[in-house]
Amino acid sequence: MLPEPSLDFAAYRAAIDAKLVALSPAPLPGQTALRLALRDSVIAPGKRLRPLICVIAAEDLGGPSEPALAAGCAVEMVHAASLVLDDLPCMDDAAMRRGRPATHVAHGEDVAVLAAIGALAGAFQLLATLPDTTGERRAEAVAVLSAAVGVKGLVGGQFADLRGGRERRQMSEIRVANGLKTGALFRASAELGGILAGADPAARDCLCSFGSEIGHAFQLYDDLLDATQNPVLLGKDVGQDAGKSTILSLVGSGSAERLIERHLERADAHLAELFGSASRLSALVAQIFAQADRTVRQAREAQVAGETGRGAGRP
Ligand code: IPE
Ligand code: IPE
Ligand code: MG
Ligand code: MG
Ligand code: MG
Repeated sequence: MLPEPSLDFAAYRAAIDAKLVALSPAPLPGQTALRLALRDSVIAPGKRLRPLICVIAAEDLGGPSEPALAAGCAVEMVHAASLVLDDLPCMDDAAMRRGRPATHVAHGEDVAVLAAIGALAGAFQLLATLPDTTGERRAEAVAVLSAAVGVKGLVGGQFADLRGGRERRQMSEIRVANGLKTGALFRASAELGGILAGADPAARDCLCSFGSEIGHAFQLYDDLLDATQNPVLLGKDVGQDAGKSTILSLVGSGSAERLIERHLERADAHLAELFGSASRLSALVAQIFAQADRTVRQAREAQVAGETGRGAGRP
């Protein structure tokens, strides 16, 4: 059950978590490792930013909550699958995710790949059977999410990142890769909310532009967080981008922070066009980025304290 529309995002997160548990693809009896791998990847605690964007966009356009909640969970399942694959030894070779051992570390690479495919299939099954909406909107939702996953979306972006990341890259090339590997799902989250609310093409364009700006800002923050060297605060491996061509490595942290601000201002301008100056999506984005900002600063302080011998845990 979703809460009454409010700014209480924790209540929305709880509803999303409950729905993800209810909707998580159920393996055959006895297939315990697969069940646990799905649980550890899809249901493990994440920020749930993509489903939040989908539900809040739909509600604030006057649409029904339930199909948007299910569609948001479908995006989250795709996102979780992308993280499982991203962490594999053949990709980023990360050992920790969401504060736990990465899925392949806990359950083996074979099971991790199957769990990722299971989550992806589950996501599209969910969209094809969305409650309380029309067949036309279900079909549109499937088309939007599959495009966001495909070769002109996440898959294309991950390829560019994996094969191009170790080469010297122009800022414009990195922007394209980030827009695909991270931006595509944020765009889709916002657009799905619009589709399920019956938004007109102009409103959908606005939501897509908002999602793109958030995607760029989010990946820039992710790169800043990777450089903070604090896996405990982050719940995942850090230092993964060492030697990689990122926007952060090209322009440095001060400029990266200013770029984030610019993307967030543009994101807000798109929201203002649609919802006026004080929207819930704008409040949600402010909350998420303020938290990321606190984490970056906390990690930097801990690093400085450690370097000067004042760190927690030092004798
Ligand atoms: C991490 O995404 C991967 C990127 C796109 C940078 P999130 O930071 O949203 O991960 P969770 O869902 O909170 O774990
Ligand atoms: C990956 O970016 C985004 C995905 C599409 C999975 P990163 O590789 O930087 O994400 P993290 O830092 O591992 O979460
Ligand atoms: Mg990666
Ligand atoms: Mg990674
Ligand atoms: Mg990263």
